Amino acid sequence: MAQIAKKTIRYLQGKKEKGEKITMVSTYDYISAKLCEEVGIDCILVGDSLGMVFQGLDSTLPVTLEEMIYHTKAVRRGAPRTFIIVDMPFMSYQESPEVALRNCGRVLKETGAQAVKLEGGEEIAQTVEKLTSLGIPVVGHIGFTPQFIHSLSGPRVVGKLQSEAQKLRKDFKALESAGAFMIVLESIPRELAKELTESSSAITIGIGAGKFCDGQVLVFHDLVGLYEEIKPRFVRRYLEGAKLFREALHKFKIEVEEGLFPSEEESYGA
Ligand code: KIV
Repeated sequence: MAQIAKKTIRYLQGKKEKGEKITMVSTYDYISAKLCEEVGIDCILVGDSLGMVFQGLDSTLPVTLEEMIYHTKAVRRGAPRTFIIVDMPFMSYQESPEVALRNCGRVLKETGAQAVKLEGGEEIAQTVEKLTSLGIPVVGHIGFTPQFIHSLSGPRVVGKLQSEAQKLRKDFKALESAGAFMIVLESIPRELAKELTESSSAITIGIGAGKFCDGQVLVFHDLVGLYEEIKPRFVRRYLEGAKLFREALHKFKIEVEEGLFPSEEESYGA
């Protein structure tokens, strides 16, 4: 039987050139990754949002490199052909291009992922250049960047002020010139996302950046309604997952308590 090939950067660029939208889901485990691959999602981002969604922390800052590697290995097993990107956690790449190279190289070697994602603009351009020149594909991330949560004073739209919009344009150009093949635009005005997308051959992926980006990303647990702690305006729930899970768990509890589970068919005879 012919093997279906892994999705590649060339495949994703081809979609941008043909005006076909790119789909990305941020997720952290084998089962959700398998579901994404089964329906043909193009990219899985193993996001450091796992700190909040999977670990129940109040920011992404404490997430470690070891945790990212652990989750990415599970995701790769569930989605062998999907394009996989790993979020580099806070302080695993900021110190110097050399530290970034060591950590990003390790991530690609140990996980089977195909690219890394770094948050920031001009200030990390030198690092992005080093990584891309040595064969490590980089995805940029600008706008609201969760690793800057304290400097940005919490989640908010970035780029409404002319000064902020100008900075985003410069950051975008710096990342593109340094070789980033894809840039995530988070919580920025849709007109600015349109301008950046149309002005560039780099692929743009929006989250809270409107419909003109080359593709869209949502966190799996937001998409299926399992993460109820916060629901930003840009999240669309395609399922009320938490409600359905609660109903199932409640039914199990009642049926065990009332002796209705397990039945004879669900147990073994002598
Ligand atoms: O960590 C994450 O899941 C992300 C996406 C929401 C873009 O960075």
